[in-house]
Amino acid sequence: MDDRITDQDIAARITSSDSVAALAELTTELLGKGSDLAARKAALGALPPEERRGEGRRLNDERVAIEAALAARRAELAAGERAARYEAERLDLTEVVPHLRRGHLHLVTQTLDELEDIFVGMGFTVAEGPVVETDWYNFEALNFPAGHPARNMYDTLYVDLGEPESTLLRTHTSPVQIRVMEKQAPPIYSVMPGLTHRRDTTDASHLPNFHQIEGLVVDEGITFGDLAGTLEAFTHAYFGGDIQSRLRPSYFPFTEPSAEYDVTCVFCKGAGCRTCSKTGWLELGGCGMVHPNVLRNVGIDAEVWSGFAFGFGPERMALMKHGINDIRELVTNDIRFLEQF
Ligand code: PHE
Repeated sequence: MDDRITDQDIAARITSSDSVAALAELTTELLGKGSDLAARKAALGALPPEERRGEGRRLNDERVAIEAALAARRAELAAGERAARYEAERLDLTEVVPHLRRGHLHLVTQTLDELEDIFVGMGFTVAEGPVVETDWYNFEALNFPAGHPARNMYDTLYVDLGEPESTLLRTHTSPVQIRVMEKQAPPIYSVMPGLTHRRDTTDASHLPNFHQIEGLVVDEGITFGDLAGTLEAFTHAYFGGDIQSRLRPSYFPFTEPSAEYDVTCVFCKGAGCRTCSKTGWLELGGCGMVHPNVLRNVGIDAEVWSGFAFGFGPERMALMKHGINDIRELVTNDIRFLEQF
């Protein structure tokens, strides 16, 4: 057997091993119990003493050379596999950096702020009241006696507290009118934003949890003309000069006369389209002259004072201003939608 050729052959097999696992198999083959080296070592004893020494040294040199070659290749392969693993696990942090943007206020919050700003600019103060209300504030004081059919306008969510149906999630912000009038003598010029709840099924134009902004004016000599003028001024301030407002007769127990407040359809600019049912107008809220019974319920002399009130839906206003056709977009929390505003 020519040892040099064998050595070269072994060296070539070691350097061409292409994985740590393959090299481990080769190590067993070259150095393990079944290896050529092991067989020759076992045969040493059978050799004549003068050959035994030389063969013993040769076997040892070969083993050392093979171990060194295996160790060198093992280190190479391990480094290569580590580098490949690092590459595979690498995080491209440059992709993350642009997402570290600053958030901003939700469109509904921005809208409430803007509505308050407009009314504050017109001389109104801002007041708030509780979301969980009593029957008195939400209905009774607003001239809805028990069993009054107008209560059916509101799909009320009652709270399991006290007498049955005595405590509820307010169905509108009108109870805050009562709270403001209890605390403060006229003249009153206030807006009252806040969350309201109704047992409504969600669809493109309804949410069971939504906001309202209530307005209340009580002063001497206030007329329906003051109401119409205030709403027209507000409409131009919020939507711009090309959107008009109109009032349509309606009914609320706490105002008399009562009206629906409509604005020019922002989608078709009044021409008539699907969104406005071809009318050219969109309904934004209710309003009217404060009913004398409501003033009497809070001890204000209805012979001296008169007033108007209105209640708008800020979510609907945001939809109209921005041309959004589904109110559910506001609560789905899709960041791609929200970040546009
Ligand atoms: N509270 C009424 C509603 O929620 C709206 C309204 C407010 C009507 C003030 C008249 C005056 O439908």
